[in-house]
Amino acid sequence: MYPIIKWFFFRFDPEKIHYFTFSLLRFWLRVPLVKPIWKSMYQLNASELKTTVAGVTFSNPVGLAAGFDKNALMINQLAACGFGFVEIGTVTPVGQDGNPKPRLFRLIQDEAIINRMGFNNDGAEVIVERLKALNPECVIGGNIGKNKVTPNEEATSDYLKCYNALLPYVDYFVVNVSSPNTPNLRELQDKAPLMELLQTLMDEKAKNQSIKPIFLKIAPDLTDSQLDDIIEIVNTTKIAGVIATNTTISREKLTTSKERIEAIGAGGVSGKPLTSRSTEVIRYLHQHSNGSFPIIGVGGIHSEKDALEKLEAGASLIQLYTGFIY
Ligand code: FNR
Repeated sequence: MYPIIKWFFFRFDPEKIHYFTFSLLRFWLRVPLVKPIWKSMYQLNASELKTTVAGVTFSNPVGLAAGFDKNALMINQLAACGFGFVEIGTVTPVGQDGNPKPRLFRLIQDEAIINRMGFNNDGAEVIVERLKALNPECVIGGNIGKNKVTPNEEATSDYLKCYNALLPYVDYFVVNVSSPNTPNLRELQDKAPLMELLQTLMDEKAKNQSIKPIFLKIAPDLTDSQLDDIIEIVNTTKIAGVIATNTTISREKLTTSKERIEAIGAGGVSGKPLTSRSTEVIRYLHQHSNGSFPIIGVGGIHSEKDALEKLEAGASLIQLYTGFIY
């Protein structure tokens, strides 16, 4: 059944089909009696799966990664599909359209995606209104970023705005400085600006007496020495932990033709070609930090084996996106 649906959906433009399946699932789960039946099929309520990380208790350790439900439109429907947590965003202070289309591409033979969405989202204010009206059925992560037009020197203020707006409505935060699709964003991963950004957010957390943990999401393209800096920054600022990893700018390991890859152009690769690199990053961080902070593992999880590898490498929770699509 699934291969037929996939074959059919993969005939259409990836972004259009994303919104179509989105609407279809929302509609389907509103049909009387469907949601409880769906839940009984997909939701696992085994107590062995309950996981507490950074003070937050997750009904199971498998979450949906940021970027799928950017605007908090279907958190409970995704919970009904079995996800223990849904990370909304990346949310920016002001809503923005993102990059021009087309900006989402399937690499079917690689079981991968290239995207250069560029933080298209409704903005913090609209998303907060949606969250206010929600009775959440799973843990919600708030992934926050800066607007494209905000220069890096003023980025901290954007992150603070999103942090304060979302604070009452999400269970944990993710500081996203690793998307390749907002110009110069990844420069915020450098030691000095990152230390300043995270310390400011931690000061705000203390000021609000908030217990909601703050995670940092990093790119898979960091060198070992940059990963050492990340460990130092986490230990110094005492943020809760790290999400490893975002999409990669590398085009290695792809079997799709060079011509097609060049024609697609810029963007981050997710899915199978990312599996081993993101696991390597998790293992490095876990070993070199002596397991001193939790890691949420994400990148190319398409099977139980991929998930277990991430957990064995040191992840406490896992997330997926591209594997869910495929
Ligand atoms: C993403 N990802 C992402 N991450 C993030 O922190 N903020 C975002 O807005 C987005 N947006 C986004 C859009 C699309 C179309 C994709 C495919 C991915 C990255 C995502 O959360 C995840 O880190 C990577 O995709 C790696 O995991 P998978 O997809 O290989 O399971």
